[in-house]
Amino acid sequence: MEELHQLKDLDALLDAVLLEARRLTAAEAGSIYLVQSGMLNFSYLHNDRLFSSARHKHIYTSQTLPLDNRSIAGYVACTGEPLLIDDVYEIHPSMPYTFNHSFDEASGYRTKSLLVLPLKTSRDKIVGVMQIINALDRKGETIPFTARDQMVVGYFANNAAAAVERAQLTREVILRMIRMCELRDPEETGAHANRVGAYAAEIYHQWALNRSVPDAEINKTRDLIRIAAMLHDLGKIAIPDLILKKPGRLERDEFAIIKYHTIYGARLFENRSSELDVMSAEIALNHHERWDGRGYPGKIGNIFAESVHFGPGKQGEEIPLAARIVALADVFDALVSKRVYKESLLVEEALALIQEQAGKQFDPEVVAAFFAIREVIAAIRGKYQEAAATPPGHIGP
Ligand SMILES: [Fe+2]
Ligand SMILES: [Fe+2]
Repeated sequence: MEELHQLKDLDALLDAVLLEARRLTAAEAGSIYLVQSGMLNFSYLHNDRLFSSARHKHIYTSQTLPLDNRSIAGYVACTGEPLLIDDVYEIHPSMPYTFNHSFDEASGYRTKSLLVLPLKTSRDKIVGVMQIINALDRKGETIPFTARDQMVVGYFANNAAAAVERAQLTREVILRMIRMCELRDPEETGAHANRVGAYAAEIYHQWALNRSVPDAEINKTRDLIRIAAMLHDLGKIAIPDLILKKPGRLERDEFAIIKYHTIYGARLFENRSSELDVMSAEIALNHHERWDGRGYPGKIGNIFAESVHFGPGKQGEEIPLAARIVALADVFDALVSKRVYKESLLVEEALALIQEQAGKQFDPEVVAAFFAIREVIAAIRGKYQEAAATPPGHIGP
């Protein structure tokens, strides 16, 4: 249970919760819905029978349900009471809810026994609903869940609810940090952070497909890298205004100070028990390293030391993958964006420059993944455009 409270990333947490609930009841499958803006969002899914082959991984990933009595999950979210159903195909017609067959129809799976529990915090706030599906006996036959299952998982669900609530809060805080950074640094806008996060997630996805990384790992890492990439320049919060807001090119000594944003950034993510913090620190520290070893801050010992001296640049795969990806995403976005001291390049010019730097500034495999998804990159640029100039003091959209 301790572990649940250490994991901060929401998806990693939901995965752990579901795995444990299924282990407690020997159940084959399960899913979690979260209450988000007055709806139930289908948020996490396990199914040992289907996903050993990963065929139907994406069924339902964006399904939402209204918060009402008509669905099983909706009923549990509204009443706050658990449900134990022996066979979902034989629900009595007098019940307000019905079983939605569409998942079974699309996947060929047969859902039978269900144990559905509210994820309710100690203040009786319902943050979601957990469905545990198909209890198995020793021979692998589906059997009903028992009252004992309900009790054991119910206790566990209450603890999980508190952890889920905290993870959701963490996500909100992260988004607020990015907005805070935007107030200080005119170049690191929220739109830039959103684009770099989205580029990085998509480049990683393509890279991972090229390498045949398993689906479950792709989904998890993709989510982590998106958020962690958005935080790449958070360390700029510690750079003086005079330098950060200086129009025009920086002097040599000013640039030397700016370079420390990598170390300040990494220091912000000390909590190494959270996967999100680990990746955020890796990206913050290494997003200015270069594949050929000519980047910064290079190999340094303790980032918390009182005076940190930059070392010889990390090279090739010494640089963590997430940072190699963000390095490209960040530079591409800077090249095609207008800044105080420069006009933007045309996309074609920027692409040529990046191609030219494959094997020099950038990991050639990452460059290849980037070029394979050029259309996605263009779509992301279209989606996250710079907001029109807003009067000082105005807080984001
Ligand atoms: Fe940076
Ligand atoms: Fe940036």
